[in-house]
Amino acid sequence: TTSTTEAETTDSTESGEASELPETITIGSDIPYRPFEYETIEGDLTGFDVDIAEAVFDGQLGIDYEFKPTSFDSIIPSLNNNNFRIIMSAMTINDQRAQEVDFSDPYFTAYQTVIVRQDSDIQSREDLRGTTVGVQKGTTGADAALELQEEFDGELELNQYDQVTGAFQALVNGQVVAVINDNTVNAEFVNNQGEGEVRFLQGEGAAAESGENAPDYLTLTVENYGIAFRQDDDEFRQRVNEALAAIKENGTYDEIYAEYFEG
Ligand code: ARG
Repeated sequence: TTSTTEAETTDSTESGEASELPETITIGSDIPYRPFEYETIEGDLTGFDVDIAEAVFDGQLGIDYEFKPTSFDSIIPSLNNNNFRIIMSAMTINDQRAQEVDFSDPYFTAYQTVIVRQDSDIQSREDLRGTTVGVQKGTTGADAALELQEEFDGELELNQYDQVTGAFQALVNGQVVAVINDNTVNAEFVNNQGEGEVRFLQGEGAAAESGENAPDYLTLTVENYGIAFRQDDDEFRQRVNEALAAIKENGTYDEIYAEYFEG
């Protein structure tokens, strides 16, 4: 079940020649992941990644694109099996993944954060010892939870969910004590779907250590999102990096950012 076509394959190895751009591409993404990729009530796909894709592929490169819902846990093998051309899925750039894919330049900074129920007695990172936390399978949130588990000498249980919405539901239902996930996605849940029911765990952390503009909640990591490519797709990756730079330069990126993350 692949909608990948021959037209998507750029295999030009001639040096010094600008590569042909594909006419259309398919983008693998795990949906819903609000506010990066999700459906509106009307059933339209929207979100920060979707708008960035529009600006980069349609706007800058003149390429048609289509998002293909894919489980996050298997999204890298799926890319490497040619099920789509690239991944745009709020995906954190890290060394482990960089062994299997190549990343674009970073396009968004994120932190791993912890949310708990509003009435929870968990007040600090140390209070998480001996509890069960929920994470989305295959994510850096799951990695952060595993690190905490090590810090607590094994005294932390992980419940892993295929989608982040499953973890959020488990938190509200009391099946887990906390959810560890990307800050802006947690914030979306705290401020909207989970409003009044959940809150951030407060505290300083990795973001404060890294400097500028640290949020007031606990941050376990500092991460950057990138678009993922197959490792034989370097010319296309470079064209996309140029397009990303162009939308940062011409204000389009800032407009999209403001729409989702300011005010
Ligand atoms: N940034 C995290 C990671 O890369 C979570 C991404 C999950 N994305 C999604 N669309 N579900 O592991």
